[in-house]
Amino acid sequence: MQDTLCIEGGHPLHGRVRVSGAKNAGLVLMAASILADGETILDNIPRIRDVEVMTQLLNDIGVDTCWNDDNSLSICPPPGNVKNYTSYDLAKMLRASNLFLGAILGRQGEAIISLPGGCDIGSRPMDLHIKGLQALGTDISIEHGYIFARANQSCGARIYLDFPSVGATENILMMAVKTPGTSIIENAAKEPEIVDLANFLNSMGAKIRGAGTDIIKIDGVPKLKAGRYAIIPDRIEAGTYMIAAAISGGEIEVENVIPTHLHPVVAKLQETGAFVQENDQGILVRAGEQILPVDIKTLPYPGFPTDMQSQMIALLSLARGSSVIVENVFENRFQIVDELKRMGANIKVEGHTAVVEGVQTLYGARVKATDLRAGAALVLAALVARGETVIEDAIHIFRGYEDIPRKLSMLGARVK
Ligand code: UD1
Repeated sequence: MQDTLCIEGGHPLHGRVRVSGAKNAGLVLMAASILADGETILDNIPRIRDVEVMTQLLNDIGVDTCWNDDNSLSICPPPGNVKNYTSYDLAKMLRASNLFLGAILGRQGEAIISLPGGCDIGSRPMDLHIKGLQALGTDISIEHGYIFARANQSCGARIYLDFPSVGATENILMMAVKTPGTSIIENAAKEPEIVDLANFLNSMGAKIRGAGTDIIKIDGVPKLKAGRYAIIPDRIEAGTYMIAAAISGGEIEVENVIPTHLHPVVAKLQETGAFVQENDQGILVRAGEQILPVDIKTLPYPGFPTDMQSQMIALLSLARGSSVIVENVFENRFQIVDELKRMGANIKVEGHTAVVEGVQTLYGARVKATDLRAGAALVLAALVARGETVIEDAIHIFRGYEDIPRKLSMLGARVK
């Protein structure tokens, strides 16, 4: 069955794995492509479920997309307006569908966007997106599950975000690049995917400074020109394979990475006793003699990424001692715990904190991927568990990991 992954544990992974393009950069760049006139070509876009849904969303609003022979993705908006409306049926499948709010507003000043779906990891409000877009002169109302937004004499503004939200920074950025005057986003998100978006927009003629810092300044321009751009590698996919080496007792060279993007993960992995070395090809990870317990707090970048928290819990389930994990970004991100307990893990959750008491062995079981990263964590646990693990609802994993059964098999895992 396509929606189930079966993994026989106990085979240390060895070899090289090439990391795909970053899901979260790819999704926002696909939306941002409609800000330009003409054909945009994106290289390094991963062939994953979320990208498939994003292409359907683009097609649904009248934008042509096509995969080229060299694996690049062409995005061609029509000469006039796109349909200014995203439907619930597609938007519910993907949180990133909310990025069409800033993109369509930036393109043509009026958008009706279905409130988005995506991973069930917390309430995921959009108040910061809305506050920022209103500051740029947009009238916004929410009715019947849709956001109705209309730019009304928009002009540049100073916007302070109460929290450095990735999506809010991206939506505001996409509108601000086409808004007359200077806009300043304070307490902006600093994730590498934000920098990639700014670099992409600048390559099309936008005037953005400071991306990657707390303060982003944007001078609006009337037009952007389409071009070709290669997105950054996926730091979360890379981190997941790095943990695969550490948990399975193997050694993996993770290729096509930007090491600085992975420093928070590398630092914690080293504390667990794994050997980690950057080299010209990428990052080499070798399992330590034993897994040491570590404490982790998730934070916005450059803090430890919430998207690596579940995978780290899987690793620490087998540590020699107890680890304390504090989740500060999403309130409902410990669903992985119940599934790992089915495999023999000893974890207690109290509010935003999980206490992981390491056990000696995990056992194969029937488990369920409750969200994308929880699914990845179950894959990691299954690699080392005694016997076979059957992961149901693996569709969540395919949303974000390109070719995962093949990549794992090439490293020596037994995956069906
Ligand atoms: C993006 C990533 C996701 C990652 C997350 C944090 C994409 C497609 N997804 O999600 O993989 O886990 O960043 O790195 O890029 N918040 C508000 N009000 C808002 C917006 C957000 O309170 O208007 C809160 C959220 O509830 C959450 C926190 O801010 O607690 C972080 O959310 P945000 O940074 O916006 O994450 P996303 O952009 O949804």
